[in-house]
Amino acid sequence: MAENTVENKKLIETIVWRCPSNIAIVKYWGKKENQLPCNSSLSMTLSKAFTEIELTLQEKKAADEIELDFFFEGKKNVQFQERVKKYLSAQAKDFSFLKEFAVSINSHNSFPHSAGIASSASAFGAIALSICDVLRTLRKQTINEDFFRKASELARLGSGSACRSMYGDFVLWGKNNAIANSSDEFAIPVTDIHENFKNFHDAILIVEKEPKKVSSSVGHSLMNNHPFAENRFLQADKRVERLKNVLSSGDLSEFIHIAESEALTLHAMMMTSEDYYLLMKSGTLIAIEKIIEFRKETKIPVCFTLDAGPNVHVLYPGSEKNKVELFLNNMIGNSVKEIIFDQIGDGPQKIR
Ligand code: PMV
Repeated sequence: MAENTVENKKLIETIVWRCPSNIAIVKYWGKKENQLPCNSSLSMTLSKAFTEIELTLQEKKAADEIELDFFFEGKKNVQFQERVKKYLSAQAKDFSFLKEFAVSINSHNSFPHSAGIASSASAFGAIALSICDVLRTLRKQTINEDFFRKASELARLGSGSACRSMYGDFVLWGKNNAIANSSDEFAIPVTDIHENFKNFHDAILIVEKEPKKVSSSVGHSLMNNHPFAENRFLQADKRVERLKNVLSSGDLSEFIHIAESEALTLHAMMMTSEDYYLLMKSGTLIAIEKIIEFRKETKIPVCFTLDAGPNVHVLYPGSEKNKVELFLNNMIGNSVKEIIFDQIGDGPQKIR
């Protein structure tokens, strides 16, 4: 490993990874111990929405406790630092260098905070990739399939959906009896994608910028004694199987049906849990209705999906980009504050 001197400390290694966020089409909602999912899920990897992590290891005296300095957008972020420190401590038995060196992480997002883009997916994805990359460098191994599988497993332990950010295009996570090689531990790329889905777009309509009132972890835990949980988990597994077939057959209307029903089902689960809550806003419903109306009028295969928040993800093929974006830009006003235009992406990238 390269050794440079920085401010009287020895800089052992700096590694930089860029990891994209992803938007689930079939949703993961409900988990078991160790962030193992209650059902399989399938997502599309984004391109412009990413986190870039610069991980630096410096010499320190005692190798007992994790020493972490965490900076977000150049500023110390104590809240996320504590979450990441806990995460790194849990991984230290497999990655002993985390205790042997002082760890410093600089994190930068390409997208605004609380915009309805899963920042924990891209952040934990990039952290996991960086940690795996240090170990890979120490062991003089190459970046291969095993590397991404290990990174996916490690990312999952930070944030479940992060494990799907390890690959480009469409990605599947969770054991599904109908799909070979699927696993609860890590995600796998979905191969055999029809032309119709190869240049898919995701425009995120920002309805509200406030951080969400109920965290995803609380939401997941409410599935534990949810009256509809078992049926929901079975439904999701069936939909993953169907969606996988749709992605290879190119059936856009079936895709739309699955995507929209999944979005509404996710929110229905929140609304019907014992401690019910509502994340949609009036602007969410206005946008959804306009999208459905526009589709009916124009026959353009455009649809919506939702994450655990009020902002609306609009999905459409690249071939319809101009017409859809003209329509969406006209929605900016009272309910839609801003739009982030993104599209399907290639997956993570090592920068340095
Ligand atoms: O990865 P988590 O624990 O933040 O959960 C993500 C859950 C959803 O974004 C709502 C759905 C999904 O599959 O990404």
